[in-house]
This record gives sequence, C-alpha cells and structure tokens, in this order.
Amino acid sequence: MSYNLLKGKRGIITGALDSNSIAWKVAEKAHEQGAIFTLTNAPIAMRMGEINKLAEKCNATIIPADATSIPDIENLYSKSMEVLGGKIDFVLHSIGMSVNIRKGISYAESNYDYFNKGIDVSALSLHKMLNVAYRMDAINDWGSVVALTYIAAQRAYPFYTDMADIKALLESICRTFGYHYGVRNKVRINSVSQSPTKTTAGTGIKGFDTFYNFADKQSPLGNASAEACADYCITLFSDLTKMVTMQNLYHDGGYSSTGVTTSLIEDFEKSAK
Ligand SMILES: NC(=O)c1ccc[n+]([C@@H]2O[C@H](COP(=O)([O-])OP(=O)(O)OC[C@H]3O[C@@H](n4cnc5c(N)ncnc54)[C@H](O)[C@@H]3O)[C@@H](O)[C@H]2O)c1
Repeated sequence: MSYNLLKGKRGIITGALDSNSIAWKVAEKAHEQGAIFTLTNAPIAMRMGEINKLAEKCNATIIPADATSIPDIENLYSKSMEVLGGKIDFVLHSIGMSVNIRKGISYAESNYDYFNKGIDVSALSLHKMLNVAYRMDAINDWGSVVALTYIAAQRAYPFYTDMADIKALLESICRTFGYHYGVRNKVRINSVSQSPTKTTAGTGIKGFDTFYNFADKQSPLGNASAEACADYCITLFSDLTKMVTMQNLYHDGGYSSTGVTTSLIEDFEKSAK
C-alpha cells in the first residue's frame, strides 16, 4: 500500500542481485512509496542480468560499482545526482560476502587474505560510501543511510565465521560515521539487524536451513521476511524517523530478546524421548 512516504526523495540502492535479495524488496517498496533512485551492484553481478528487470519495473537507472573502489563510488554518486536531478536523500547498503564462508573455512582456521577481502567488501565499503558522500557533500541534510547486519555481531554463532567480526565493524562504522555526519548535516545512519533470510548470501552459510527453522521457532513472531525488512527500511528512509541515528535496530520477530520459547522446549523434549 502506498502512503507516499518517500515522495520527492532520491536514493541509491545497492545489493539487488535477484528477486530474493533484501535490496530487491527495498527497491520495489521505495518505488511504491514514491521515491526515485538508482540501482547499483558489482559489475560481476550484472552478468546475471536479473537487475535489469528490477530497473525496468522501478524506472531506475543502473550504475555498476564495485563497493570496494573509491573511483567507482565517486562515479556512482555523481551519476546518481545527475540522473535523479539533485542530492541524495537515502542510501541502502546491502552488501555482504565472505570468501572464508564461501570456501567452507572455519573461523579458527580463517585465511587472512580472504578475511581482509570480506572486511573490504562487507564493512569498509560502507565507510567508503559514506566518506565519498561526505567529501562530495552528496547527501541532503536529514538524509538517511541504512546498512544490513546480523546478530552474530553481538553473540557467537560459529557458522557465521569471520562475518561476525565484519558485521561488528559495520555496526561500529554506522555509529561513528553517524556521529560525524549527524553533526555536520543531520544525516542519520543506522544498521538493521535482520532475521535469517533465504537469499543468495544467506543460504551460502553452512547449515543455513536448519538454523533458519531454529530461529523461526526461537522468535515469538517468527522470522522476519525480506518484505518486512524492506518495510522497516522504508520507515527509516522516511521523515517519520528523523531523530533515530547511530542505532543497531533489531528486526527479528523478537529473537534477540528471547531466552527460549515453549515451542523449542517441546521439540527438545520430544527428541529426548
Ligand atoms: N540473508 C540473511 O540471512 C541476512 C541476515 C541478516 C543480514 N543480512 C545482510 O543483508 C545484506 C544483503 O544480503 P542478502 O541476504 O539480500 O543477499 P544477496 O546475496 O541477495 O545480496 C548481497 C549483495 O552483495 C553484493 N556484492 C557482493 N560484493 C560486492 C561488491 N564488491 N560491490 C558491490 N556489491 C557487492 C552482491 O552482488 C549481492 O547483490 C548483506 O549485508 C547481508 O549480510 C542477510
């Protein structure tokens, strides 16, 4: 349903790979709520071609950018401002990749070249996107930046390996850059800590399906879907959340505040019989 929450706003949405991507849902909902925006992803992800369908649907221009490359990010902002006709009001950082996870390497045995790659792609990319915007003065006062994260930044989840540390850095960048950009331009920066979600990045994690079902049972409301996450991101881009900044916001059906659910206890009792 459209409330025109983002009417007149210009945005940049990263990370839409296919229709399962959280960023894909955010783009659909931002379009529905009246925003205009550009779409971006790593040049290699463009080869799949799926993003063209989204661009057509949302009337958006695609600007390829490797989020680890400062020149690519500079081009992304300058082209976006040109195409959209002014400075940017919202940015979605929806980028995650761990080579250690992809190669099935355990946390204790992390390969450091892969670890550094993961840090660059999944956390420093946010710093670079903010740094370039700050230098170019590309984001309007009271603009909003949202980055997606996971609760492994706060608690140990063995299978999440180096991404746990990388997400902790991502959340710290939101806080610290949120301070600097807030003071200068009232730009707000938050991370949204989302439930396990069946996407390319999510399902690449070892044992994902079992854990997905566990988290669903451990959450009073069940796992939050990608669509619901997109709705939440839209509220954060809107003017209705103007004083929310530097926060890590759980969007997880209550998972993060739950010790245990009766549903899980019952399963445990059944399996113990
Ligand atoms: N799926 C989950 O369970 C889950 C849970 C919590 C948080 N998240 C986070 O949500 C975000 C989006 O992931 P998703 O689940 O929608 O999966 P996804 O695989 O659809 O999206 C990840 C995106 O990152 C992009 N990317 C990778 N390297 C890049 C680079 N160098 N430059 C630019 N883009 C690059 C990929 O092309 C892809 O579009 C990630 O930050 C992820 O960690 C996911």
